[in-house]
Amino acid sequence: MKSDNLTLFDFDSDKKTDWGTESIINQLMFIEILSKIGNIDEISKIKSEIQKIIDIINAPRKDDFGLLNICSNGGTIRINKQILLEDLNQILRSQTIERAKYYVSRLKKSLTEIKTSKINDLNLNRWKEYGDILTESLWILYKRDKSGAHNAGYWGNFIPQIPNQFLRRYTKQGEWVLDPFLGSGTTLIECKRLGRNGIGVELSPGVVEIANRNKLIIGEDKICSKIII
Ligand SMILES: C[S@@+](CC[C@H](N)C(=O)[O-])C[C@H]1O[C@@H](n2cnc3c(N)ncnc32)[C@H](O)[C@@H]1O
Repeated sequence: MKSDNLTLFDFDSDKKTDWGTESIINQLMFIEILSKIGNIDEISKIKSEIQKIIDIINAPRKDDFGLLNICSNGGTIRINKQILLEDLNQILRSQTIERAKYYVSRLKKSLTEIKTSKINDLNLNRWKEYGDILTESLWILYKRDKSGAHNAGYWGNFIPQIPNQFLRRYTKQGEWVLDPFLGSGTTLIECKRLGRNGIGVELSPGVVEIANRNKLIIGEDKICSKIII
């Protein structure tokens, strides 16, 4: 899977781990530990077990559980450390055993179940990790994305982050997307990256030439990119 489509719980073996912000965790072991904690009937014991996990994440060398595992096997997941620590600390702050157990089971579920809606592929069980999906009414986009086939060659083109946000929020992989004012083809490039098929309509033959050049750069495989003049 390409890193563009990864949630923070997918493991991309090509990607370097940033040990300051990420933890590599043995998924099966973590699920087993959480299952055991979920069966404890005393809130203080639940909290002391959770504290042990927090200690391991903060000081990986004291990993008595075998929770951290840097082997890139199928049972290994890359986790955003800060979000995981927030989830664990929320359990520590629970006032009742019911609440503590609820948070434990929610964390376990987030490791085992993917919940998506009809309109996109975002995993609602891990919604906190999509820090790059802009949900504010005001979008603040920093540098223009110039990676891959993107270039700012056509004066009227989009910042690629604009179609990227819409595609990820309102479409699923494999769906068809129509851009009736294609210009240089920014939407098609983002469609390709995100696994959506794209059709673009453009009035000006000169601009279609630019779009076609970009289309050649992105190429054709399972994902279709069609340009109509
Ligand atoms: C603002 S540009 C779009 C730029 C595009 N989003 C990009 O990133 O390159 C609008 C484009 O719509 C095209 N256009 C205008 N009226 C059109 C129409 N009726 N049908 C198709 N294309 C049209 C223009 O030629 C222009 O290239």
